[in-house]
Amino acid sequence: MKVLLTGGAGYIGSHTCVELLNQGYEVVIADDFSNSKPEVINRIKEITGKDVDVYPIDVADKNAMKKLFSEQSIGSVIHFAGYKAVGESCQKPLMYYRNNIDATLTLLEVMEEFGVNKFVFSSSATVYGENNPIPYVETMPITGCTNPYGWTKLMIEQILKDACAANKELSVVLLRYFNPIGAHPSGRIGEDPSGIPNNLLPYVAKVAVGKLPKLGVFGNDYPTVDGTGVRDYIHVVDLAKGHAAALAYAENHTGAEAINLGSGKGHSVLEIVNTFSRVNNVPVPYEIKPRREGDLPEFYANAEKAKELLDWTAELTLEDMCRDLWNWQSNNPDGY
Ligand code: UD1
Repeated sequence: MKVLLTGGAGYIGSHTCVELLNQGYEVVIADDFSNSKPEVINRIKEITGKDVDVYPIDVADKNAMKKLFSEQSIGSVIHFAGYKAVGESCQKPLMYYRNNIDATLTLLEVMEEFGVNKFVFSSSATVYGENNPIPYVETMPITGCTNPYGWTKLMIEQILKDACAANKELSVVLLRYFNPIGAHPSGRIGEDPSGIPNNLLPYVAKVAVGKLPKLGVFGNDYPTVDGTGVRDYIHVVDLAKGHAAALAYAENHTGAEAINLGSGKGHSVLEIVNTFSRVNNVPVPYEIKPRREGDLPEFYANAEKAKELLDWTAELTLEDMCRDLWNWQSNNPDGY
């Protein structure tokens, strides 16, 4: 039986694909390449020496998805495909709700038709909203988000919980990611955002490689260790291993389980900038800017549940994350 990765050519999907192939899984990718490049597939094959079937289709295209399921023997699904830019989601909420929710519903309907019951979902720590105290624990009430992107994650979590309540065969793991950064140590795959990056580490990397002049640090007057925002950064290879562990868990359980994938540690923006500069011996010019609307001062995971249920903990350090990111960026200054 094969594992279907929707959005498998994206940043987290491609690293998970490599991890699963290395662990001996057979993998099928469905990706319309709307926010990824076909070259990723060549790089995955190069790193692993293994083949992967690719369907260049939109997950919301039901007929195309049915064709995939009828041609491949799919036993489980990891669902990465979706729009993910917070700012854009505020400008184009309907596009975000239509795309992210439609694709998930279509996928679940086709899975049901073909009797596939194992599902891992790419959720986000953003579902904890702005009122929960840190560190975030899975048992906390989930009542609302600060942006439509986050709401799509929260709504899809609810859809999946309801689907599990109705179908006792269904097994769902809702992986709530904290802040994935870094790249595969080979330097052959990594994050390749189109246009000017919104997230911190892709921006830092573009400044370091000379594509952007200066990083803007959004606020230095937060009640944190040095006044800048604190987040729980996690190496994308650790995150990929978390998906493999979640898949193994889903094989042996039923029902819906939300699990944080984070390190449990917080790092400030300035700590990130300084670590990146130090381990890579490259300057990262920055200036302090006003706070970015919607940002929280500080959040990080309680990572106990992943340890207990998945036997998984984040192992790579902030230094590893910065080094691997630079290895990718400096060897691929224009991305793929
Ligand atoms: C956001 C989303 C999260 C999403 C993640 C990755 C929220 C609350 N969080 O996380 O759901 O999964 O993006 O797409 O919506 N920073 C700067 N300068 C920059 C960029 C960022 O100082 O140019 C700071 C931010 O203020 C923040 C930290 O760096 O303190 C991390 O920001 P970012 O990488 O954008 O991630 P989040 O906002 O934490």
